[in-house]
Amino acid sequence: MEAASASRVSALVLDWYRRNARVFPWRMGPEETRVGLRQDPYLVWLSEIMLQQTTTAHAEPYFQRFRSRWPTVHALGRASWEDVSSAWAGLGYYSRARNLAACARIVSEVGGFPEDFHALRDLPGIGPYTAAAIAAIAFGRRVAPVDGNIERVVSRLAAIGGEPDGPGLRLVRRRVESAAQSLFDNLEEGAPSGDLAQGLMDLGARICSPRRPACSVCPVAAECVAQAQGRPEAYPVKAPRSLRPNRYGAAFVPVRPDGAVFVVRRPPKGLLGGMTMPLTTPWGDAPFFELPEGAPAAAWRRMGEVSHVFTHFALSLQVWRADVGQGDVLVEEGRWVPQEEAIVMLPSLGRKILRNALSADASPKARGSL
Ligand code: ADE
Repeated sequence: MEAASASRVSALVLDWYRRNARVFPWRMGPEETRVGLRQDPYLVWLSEIMLQQTTTAHAEPYFQRFRSRWPTVHALGRASWEDVSSAWAGLGYYSRARNLAACARIVSEVGGFPEDFHALRDLPGIGPYTAAAIAAIAFGRRVAPVDGNIERVVSRLAAIGGEPDGPGLRLVRRRVESAAQSLFDNLEEGAPSGDLAQGLMDLGARICSPRRPACSVCPVAAECVAQAQGRPEAYPVKAPRSLRPNRYGAAFVPVRPDGAVFVVRRPPKGLLGGMTMPLTTPWGDAPFFELPEGAPAAAWRRMGEVSHVFTHFALSLQVWRADVGQGDVLVEEGRWVPQEEAIVMLPSLGRKILRNALSADASPKARGSL
């Protein structure tokens, strides 16, 4: 993007952000950043890690709980994995929780977060986007974090990649990153870089929406090439949707007369590694319709099915329940936990399984007993 246009856009976005910033618990408001205050890097990092995989609304209560329980990176660095993983339950992808704990330990040992993009990038769980977001928001560095919102705003502003047989996606992405960076390079001297980043995010979330963007109230409409072309929705170009394969399996929920349910700790590697979950079969490519081989001996009833979408595949799990006696041992590894405790402790797939197993209203067809 041309320097003059980039500097007009940066100034307009900052001005708009000062009047329209969304309020989040991890943010410092524009009145404070204007006088040179900056958000605690620990809180910026924590929120950015949570927001990698979920919406702001879903992340907020988790952020508040983590912040009150572990107010500093040192406190989080000392926390046990049991505590961190159960506080993370429901935020998905446990490799992120493991990286979060590992990163907190390292940062605590070295005495604080590094300020530089490359040093941040070397920490566990911090990719280029997150490193740039922390460097810009917490340390005022002029680096562009290009998330989905910023990608959309910038690719429309500079009309990058809207031609049907234009350049390949990787090149388009590089052009978007470079146009985004030019907004930061041309930011007025002394202006808060983190506000530009968050202003672009808010513009993307509130005005420059994927469909039907509100160009009539957009502060940078006059600078926007896609808007001048009359086709903002043609940007950004999307990768062709790859078909997500399906995987199948079964989950087993033994329930004791006192209501406790049986859970196991999954092996440390792989999806949901190290997490507490109901027992499941391995996940395979073919669906099946009967109690799978290898199920522990018990009077299983089929309760229904739950599905869950992972990044690279969609999973369908049949849910089986057995009401067992107080002293019965079905498998050696694992433990009994009260239902209320299990619901809090399990990741969201585990909760779906448990709710299904414990629901009184599973369809009669699905409930045929074996
Ligand atoms: N998504 C990622 N980082 C964010 C932030 N700082 N504010 C709002 N949404 C975000």
